Amino acid sequence: MPPTLLAVGATGNIGVAAILAARKCQYNVLAIVRNQASADKLFQHVGSREGITTVEADVTLENGVQSVVDRVRAGELPAFQHVHSSCGAWIDTPLSEISVADFKKAMNINFDSNFYAYRATIPYLRENHEPSSFTQCTGAAPDFGTGGVTGASQGALFSMLKVASKENDKTNVRVNEIYLSARVDYDSVAEGKKGSIQASDFAKAYQGILEREDLKGARVTVHGKKDLEELKIAKLVSMSCVLPLPD
Ligand SMILES: NC(=O)c1ccc[n+]([C@@H]2O[C@H](COP(=O)([O-])OP(=O)(O)OC[C@H]3O[C@@H](n4cnc5c(N)ncnc54)[C@H](OP(=O)(O)O)[C@@H]3O)[C@@H](O)[C@H]2O)c1
Repeated sequence: MPPTLLAVGATGNIGVAAILAARKCQYNVLAIVRNQASADKLFQHVGSREGITTVEADVTLENGVQSVVDRVRAGELPAFQHVHSSCGAWIDTPLSEISVADFKKAMNINFDSNFYAYRATIPYLRENHEPSSFTQCTGAAPDFGTGGVTGASQGALFSMLKVASKENDKTNVRVNEIYLSARVDYDSVAEGKKGSIQASDFAKAYQGILEREDLKGARVTVHGKKDLEELKIAKLVSMSCVLPLPD
């Protein structure tokens, strides 16, 4: 059986790129979708239904991805070895103006959903003892001081990935980040849009991560198309702790 990629945020520009990469590697895909309309959008942009199973869940809820993992454990859905996560929405309301309710909503979509995906899938991936990976896409907005609440949520994802990479240092799970400092759109949208990278091109970065088993605890940076030919790789955690940590 070929490996399977579980895709969270599967129907977005980045999710489609991850699915195209998985299919190029001849992996099957288990894609979490909001509803049938989102599933149809996914098939339209991927250009095929082959090798892709969809399952409906609300990934913004604590038990959304968990309910999918539970169904996998029960044998109702295909087993998976790899996870891609890129749930989010561009909400650039300034932090100084956003209401607390809107802040919580934006953080829920942009951060919590990806954390829930990590929390629900890591124990399952570890149990299986198979070569596995968890890859999260992040954006560069906070490094430019832009993006309002979305920028803040991306910063929280940077920290989550550093900790997650360390937590999985000695496990079978390769935690990696794709740090995207460029614009990626569905192929049909990127066509003729100045400066936009097609999802099928961006897929090369995901393909590299899936294929290169030495990539673990890495940040793969994509500033533009040239970074898709030879991956720009750095360690997620470069410092070692010199202070004794509490037990
Ligand atoms: N695209 C880029 O160029 C780019 C660059 C840098 C960073 N990023 C980051 O990468 C992530 C994904 O970007 P993208 O362009 O793929 O975004 P997208 O096309 O808007 O897709 C985001 C995904 O999140 C889901 N989603 C959004 N709001 C939701 C909600 N309230 N409930 C459930 N699901 C929800 C979408 O589902 P539906 O399809 O059902 O709406 C979709 O699967 C974001 O965090 C973004 O900041 C993207």
